[in-house]
Amino acid sequence: MAKQNKSESNIIVVLWNNEKSNVFKSLSKPIQEHLLAERKSKRDAVLIQGLGKWEYFYFADNGDLSARTLEKWRGKGNEIQSVANANKQGAVLVKGEGVDEKISYAFAEGMALGNYKFNKYYTNAKERALSLEQMYIQDTHLTEAKQRELYGVVNANHAARTLVNEPVSFLTAEQLSKEAVRLGKEAGFTVKVLHKKQIESLKMGGLLGVNKGSIDPPTFTIMEYKPAKASNKKPLVLVGKGVVFDTGGLSLKPTPGSMDEMKCDMGGAAAVIGTLYAVAANKLPVHVIGLVPATDNRPGMNAIVPQDVLTISDGTTIEVMNTDAEGRLILADALVYAQKYNPDLVIDLATLTGAAIRAIGTYASAVMGTAPESDMRLLQKAGEHVWERTLEFPLWPEFGDELKSDVADMKNLGGGNGGHISAGKFLEHFTKYPWIHIDIAGTAWNGAPQSYRPKGGTGVGVRMLYQFIKDKYCTKK
Ligand code: BES
Ligand code: ZN
Ligand code: ZN
Repeated sequence: MAKQNKSESNIIVVLWNNEKSNVFKSLSKPIQEHLLAERKSKRDAVLIQGLGKWEYFYFADNGDLSARTLEKWRGKGNEIQSVANANKQGAVLVKGEGVDEKISYAFAEGMALGNYKFNKYYTNAKERALSLEQMYIQDTHLTEAKQRELYGVVNANHAARTLVNEPVSFLTAEQLSKEAVRLGKEAGFTVKVLHKKQIESLKMGGLLGVNKGSIDPPTFTIMEYKPAKASNKKPLVLVGKGVVFDTGGLSLKPTPGSMDEMKCDMGGAAAVIGTLYAVAANKLPVHVIGLVPATDNRPGMNAIVPQDVLTISDGTTIEVMNTDAEGRLILADALVYAQKYNPDLVIDLATLTGAAIRAIGTYASAVMGTAPESDMRLLQKAGEHVWERTLEFPLWPEFGDELKSDVADMKNLGGGNGGHISAGKFLEHFTKYPWIHIDIAGTAWNGAPQSYRPKGGTGVGVRMLYQFIKDKYCTKK
């Protein structure tokens, strides 16, 4: 969906909010009367269907622009794309006048975000392909520049979803790095991939340790977007957990159940790659670096066992008490590596703990951090705005005490409760800069479709971070 011209379309959406507007006046008298009557009975959506023609009228109340209401508008946009695809329609025309830009944007966003299907592995993928390709917008408020920005972000979100949806039979650590290179070329950011030899010379004992049970080598991917006129002197560094499949290792996950969705365990990596894509595609004036440590976690012959001791690249020794708490081990090496950029802020995203899901369900990501209060608030607001909600948890020292080991500097397992926070405390040990941790275990994957987010990878993080980056680095204060 990438064109903005006018066209013949069998699906027409009219966003209206008063009878004096030209969009309203251009309607036939009976339709005008019908709309006004429906308004009186407080119905805000009307469908008028003719032979092979669908006309949807939505009354837009500019007075209600709350985050929850905008999310409803995204849902309405999504309904239209699903009607279009179900009826093999190639285009939708959206007309509006006097409708707040936020509403038009949310509507278009829901339509574009929902227009996604992962069908690579069907033999008849071509027949199953979505029909909707064009969205024509005739709206006085939603500028072409805004529409282009929207497509950049939507493409980035879809790319992140696809990375999550790819099974490990395709998406090994090496392949994940190759996908980053491909997306970097497409959007305009640079990508450097460190391979096993280099990872060994950097002594990344966490990443190498988790990789020991695997037959596929690990990778460490470094992405950078550095425009000539960046507004930040010190870079923003994003770190994403890239466990391309998590079996649990020798502390094997039971199946069916907890292992079945673990191709999503590189959801943090997908979010970081997707965010770089969105930032580069839209040429935001901000210097961003992305780091992705990647491996699968498997119980191979040489796999790490409980009570093994690993040494992270900063020299910290870790007693591995559970090989399924692998994310923190590979992230530790990446957080150490981030230090060399003298970062303004580091944000990591990781499908890190089941405890985060037990704490807040799949409605929000769990956030913790040492960044200034103003940044924590900015991130919370950005998440609310794009409806990728977050909830902050405290990094209390008590949770750090749970990580004391009898034989090493730390162990990789906390107490029974609040496991998302002890995981956060583990990561905090490796940060010497302002830092935010986002546990997306509950939000990276949809077990069932939810509005414009189909079943499977959600691409969570991309839209939230894009909004956060704009708010923090690209708006004049
Ligand atoms: N990848 C999992 C966390 C996860 C769970 C992600 C559910 C998405 C959905 C992580 O590596 C893990 O296994 N965590 C363990 C940690 C425990 C052993 C301390 C967990 O949460 O059970
Ligand atoms: Zn695990
Ligand atoms: Zn994991």
